[in-house]
Amino acid sequence: MESACSVFGCCCCCCSGMWGSHGFPAIQEIQEEDAELVEKYLENYYNLNKDTQAGKQRRSINSQVEQLEQMQKFFGLEVTGRPDKKTLNVMKQPRCGVPDVASFTTMPGNPVWEMKNLTYRIVNYTPLLPKSVVEKAFRKAFQIWSEVSALTFTRISQGEADIMITFIRGEHGDNNPFDGPGNKLAHAFGPGPRLGGDVHFDLDETWTNESWIEDFKFNLYYSAAHEFGHSLGLGHSSDIASLMYPIYQYSGQVLLGQDDVDGIQELYGPPKKPINKKFLTTPQACDGNFTFNAVTTVRGEVMFFKERFYLRPLYQDKYQEVNLISVFWPHLSGGFDAAYEFEEDDKILFFKGHKYWAVQNLKALFGYPKDIYQSFGFPRTVTKIDAAASDVYTGKTYFFVANKYWRYDEKKKSMDEGYPKITAQDFPGINKVDAAFCKNGLFHLFHGTKHYEYNPITKQVTTGKINSLFNC
Ligand SMILES: *[C@@H]1O[C@H](CO)[C@@H](O)[C@H](O)[C@H]1NC(C)=O
Ligand SMILES: *[C@@H]1O[C@H](CO)[C@@H](O)[C@H](O)[C@H]1NC(C)=O
Ligand SMILES: *[C@@H]1O[C@H](CO)[C@@H](O)[C@H](O)[C@H]1NC(C)=O
Ligand SMILES: [Zn+2]
Ligand SMILES: [Zn+2]
Repeated sequence: MESACSVFGCCCCCCSGMWGSHGFPAIQEIQEEDAELVEKYLENYYNLNKDTQAGKQRRSINSQVEQLEQMQKFFGLEVTGRPDKKTLNVMKQPRCGVPDVASFTTMPGNPVWEMKNLTYRIVNYTPLLPKSVVEKAFRKAFQIWSEVSALTFTRISQGEADIMITFIRGEHGDNNPFDGPGNKLAHAFGPGPRLGGDVHFDLDETWTNESWIEDFKFNLYYSAAHEFGHSLGLGHSSDIASLMYPIYQYSGQVLLGQDDVDGIQELYGPPKKPINKKFLTTPQACDGNFTFNAVTTVRGEVMFFKERFYLRPLYQDKYQEVNLISVFWPHLSGGFDAAYEFEEDDKILFFKGHKYWAVQNLKALFGYPKDIYQSFGFPRTVTKIDAAASDVYTGKTYFFVANKYWRYDEKKKSMDEGYPKITAQDFPGINKVDAAFCKNGLFHLFHGTKHYEYNPITKQVTTGKINSLFNC
């Protein structure tokens, strides 16, 4: 039996009785602090004018609801006009300071550069990174765009470049002040003279070149690639696969979405060299070729992970929910290789390379990532885990790596003796597993577009297609 409850901020009261302390958060009453956040957010990014005159109070409330709806629409959230939990989660995420609704200073009238050979200048640096690291980040960020368009970028170190790059804090004279660590990270101006094309990075941020996600540390290369998109004339995209999505959603790689490529080529044409690269698109579970990187149960529901997206089939419904992992778990970025749920502790672990993150009671835990060598006792030869699944009946977790698997005892907190074993010997006909979960005593194993169901009691495997799980 599927539970009708949703892990995604559902409101149903059935949960609390059934799940005891695991009860889902009810739609919260909006806290004062959140009310302020909502107001600020809409004002900054959706051009909600502050209206202090008492007589206009009513109109301003209406317009806040409208702006909120606009924001929810932009982010693909349920349009409720209320600051519900998911909406607040989106608003709490670090993001670009350019509004989502075109307004005053930013890119009015779709400006483009007339020349395709642009110059940039790094006016100053963040003290937190060596200059060479900053220069490399910007060089790579421009390259992202020059590879897919007819544009070229040359760095100059004197005089006025088309794109002037500055690290600056607080109020800095362009009507778009920075706000200390977090929240607003950077912004840029569309093509044009003087301020046009310029990029400002908040000097108060902890900029980093590392690919691990840490609280309040932001990857400079990723942010620069996004801002340079604005410098070239692109606005924000509501496509979650787009680099021009307004929220900081770095997941260890900087990738363009197909949407970004279409946009820049419309403005400047394609590059001379042909492109033989694939660009990100929002995953479609029912396209017949759907593959993913990781899957787990989450309180009984199955959740699939691909790049920085999650997908989940909705119960008895043809519709699937697709969104950014960070919308649900703001601390997790994605790019996971494997995930599993240990129901007894209401805990979910996410693996990427030799690191892993943990979520408990649906909240990301602090102190992560940790490494799999110390925590699980994997040998150093294991650099990534392909799939993981935990069997609630035996308290054993199975880790699949290439054509072998390990078995871990959750009670003893150690690997069982005699592992790794060859997967195909114990799971007949299955050589390699890309993703796995365990539900109602059955193992669901995935490889490519194939879905296997393994019954550990009868030791039988049945084969199916992934899209049957999505009611496609
Ligand atoms: C860009 O190209 C134009 C026309 O070919 C040329 O006049 C200009 O000097 C070039 N600018 C740079 C920065 O190379
Ligand atoms: C980040 O920069 C440091 C120097 O500050 C360098 O040692 C390190 O290799 C760089 N890391 C990456 C991922 O480029
Ligand atoms: C699946 O992929 C193949 C090869 O890439 C392609 O020819 C086919 O059209 C795809 N099928 C669907 C339903 O997208
Ligand atoms: Zn932006
Ligand atoms: Zn600025």
